[in-house]
Amino acid sequence: MVYEFRKSVDVLLSGIESDLQAGLLPLRVFNDDDIYEAELRRIFARSWVFIGHESEIPTAGDYALRYIGRDPFIFVRDQKQHIHVLFNSCRHRGSQLCRVEKGRTKNFSCPYHGWIYGTDGSLIAVPSQNEGYKRLNMAEWGLHAAPHVANYHGLIFANLDPNAVSFEQYLGRYRWYLDIQFLLTEGGMEVIGEPHRWLVNANWKQGAENFNGDSSHTSITHQSALHVGVGGQSSIGALGKSRGVHVSECDGHAISMRMLETDKKLFWMYPDEVTRCINHGVLDDAQIDIARRSVVHDGTVFPNFSFIHVAVTDSADRPPAGFLSLRVWQPVAPGKTEIWNWILAPRESSEASRRRAYRVGMSSFSPSGSFEPDDIAVFGSIARSASTVFAEMNQLKLNYQMGLGDMGDLAPIENWPGPGVAVGSNAGEEGLRTFHRSWYRQMMVRPTGGAQHE
Ligand code: FES
Ligand SMILES: [Fe+2]
Repeated sequence: MVYEFRKSVDVLLSGIESDLQAGLLPLRVFNDDDIYEAELRRIFARSWVFIGHESEIPTAGDYALRYIGRDPFIFVRDQKQHIHVLFNSCRHRGSQLCRVEKGRTKNFSCPYHGWIYGTDGSLIAVPSQNEGYKRLNMAEWGLHAAPHVANYHGLIFANLDPNAVSFEQYLGRYRWYLDIQFLLTEGGMEVIGEPHRWLVNANWKQGAENFNGDSSHTSITHQSALHVGVGGQSSIGALGKSRGVHVSECDGHAISMRMLETDKKLFWMYPDEVTRCINHGVLDDAQIDIARRSVVHDGTVFPNFSFIHVAVTDSADRPPAGFLSLRVWQPVAPGKTEIWNWILAPRESSEASRRRAYRVGMSSFSPSGSFEPDDIAVFGSIARSASTVFAEMNQLKLNYQMGLGDMGDLAPIENWPGPGVAVGSNAGEEGLRTFHRSWYRQMMVRPTGGAQHE
């Protein structure tokens, strides 16, 4: 084979479809300038992207800075309680309008020439208007906003594509699994504290694919954390036999679950004040039965919103406690990701339970936690390999074949009550392949409408 220096994204993508069918993926996709730039345009500008939870901005005028791809937005609740996702750039000469990460305001005043906007994005005042801007039509110069914003039980998602499908259509049947996490109790879930953010030398897709069902890494990568008992496995193991279930191809998304064979009410080891309020009116019997037996769920809503709903402990001599961690894998650069992490607990939790959920969450899946740094060290090393000339000149491919076709013995679970394809084994990577198939489909669709800028 003659080595040829190839930079075109489309040439790079051209062979990926057949590679994916064979369970292969080019290593370069995890750290490539051109792939990254194309992802910003073809994926992040056209997918439903998580912005934040409405409980982060509970009062009129509350705001926080958020990002879609690399683009800055203001997540704000206006004076009439409507939530907006406003482009954080002044309509006059483009200055960044809001520079404070989070706060409460009646309006946004530009630091350059002082144009003032309401919390709904409307332009309400311009200095020297009578001298210099007599005929300015204020109604035409409000802030730009994400054209589509959706509220899924308090989770706010936005889509920059004017022609986007609805959020309901985008989620499709995957909603059945998300509802188990977010509608578990009648009060729903609530964010505790501020989201944590940290920069890692890794590609955004590594966290997203990992949360889609990479169960085979847990006992290897996290061996030391499990060894000291903070996985809570001894107390959980005493309650029943554990089983991993992986659901893939659920309208482009996937989830992995660890459940016990037991008659007990586990519900991620949430306390009684929570398990008394299970949402029987909304969840069906099959959803409740899955939740009752569950200690871990993790999944990704394509592209970069992941969650892990888990019971672990902060000390081997204390029982595990449940919490829900939300993740955004923010694509800062091809080999750099800012991880955002929110900890949530059911609204019915007592103050002591919330504190415990937060503490357990921070001590496990956070930058200083017992599990998180293990993954980041591995992700960084993959991104480093992906940026090498050797990987490029040899067009190196990675093996995502575990459990694929006759490589494994993973027959779908018969009579599985939920949507998607479920298998009862951890020895597969179908959830990861689901993620990369969604990625490939989005990368191959040319931009339409307002996104014709490639
Ligand atoms: S750039 Fe904002 S007022 Fe001029
Ligand atoms: Fe991990």
